[in-house]
Amino acid sequence: MKILTILGSPKKNGKTSKALGMLEENLILHGHEVERIHISSHNIKGCMGCYACMENNDEPSCILKDDAKSIFEKMIAADAIIYASPIYCYDFTSQMKTLIDRHYCMTINFGSPNGTSSIAGKKVALLTTCMDKKEGNADFAEEIFDKSMRFVMKCEVVGKETIPLSNAPDYEVRAKVATDKLTASILGF
Ligand SMILES: Cc1cc2nc3c(=O)[nH]c(=O)nc-3n(C[C@H](O)[C@H](O)[C@H](O)COP(=O)(O)O)c2cc1C
Repeated sequence: MKILTILGSPKKNGKTSKALGMLEENLILHGHEVERIHISSHNIKGCMGCYACMENNDEPSCILKDDAKSIFEKMIAADAIIYASPIYCYDFTSQMKTLIDRHYCMTINFGSPNGTSSIAGKKVALLTTCMDKKEGNADFAEEIFDKSMRFVMKCEVVGKETIPLSNAPDYEVRAKVATDKLTASILGF
């Protein structure tokens, strides 16, 4: 498979990047092609809510001229997409939220019974890290991810893993366990 990973941490080499690297290593070892996008290294503007994209089914058709289109083209070309974000104030980082809002320009016939998207049917997974425990911190983001990816983008959510207590000394040991589990969910074994 061609797998696109999307890092939503502003830190290129932080805790989330470390865990995502473990996951990417697993996928490469299983013979898959992996490309990483670090959102903060790109210029992604916030959705304007103009709905111009809804009038055009030639997706992705956002009127904003920035780096989002090239990321969406990579997503459309991928077989699976992995979203990785630290939890900021019980949610994704603003970088990840901004990119997910912009996904609306990939929807087709949004809101109608035959609504779909240019990434419909693709396998998607979520990896989050947070400093506190998972419950009451990362569970909201997992729910938001599920709603956005399943109901709006019509993707197949194959896995969601949170690595809590990211400042604890055993972080990397737990990150390995969580990313091995996510590897199995993505690859279906
Ligand atoms: C602005 C901000 C808000 C945060 N909010 C939460 C939170 O609500 N719950 C939590 O457990 N950790 C929170 N954290 C901690 C990060 O989720 C945690 O340190 C994460 O592992 C950092 O990942 P990174 O090194 O990839 O950036 C917050 C950190 C920042 C900077």
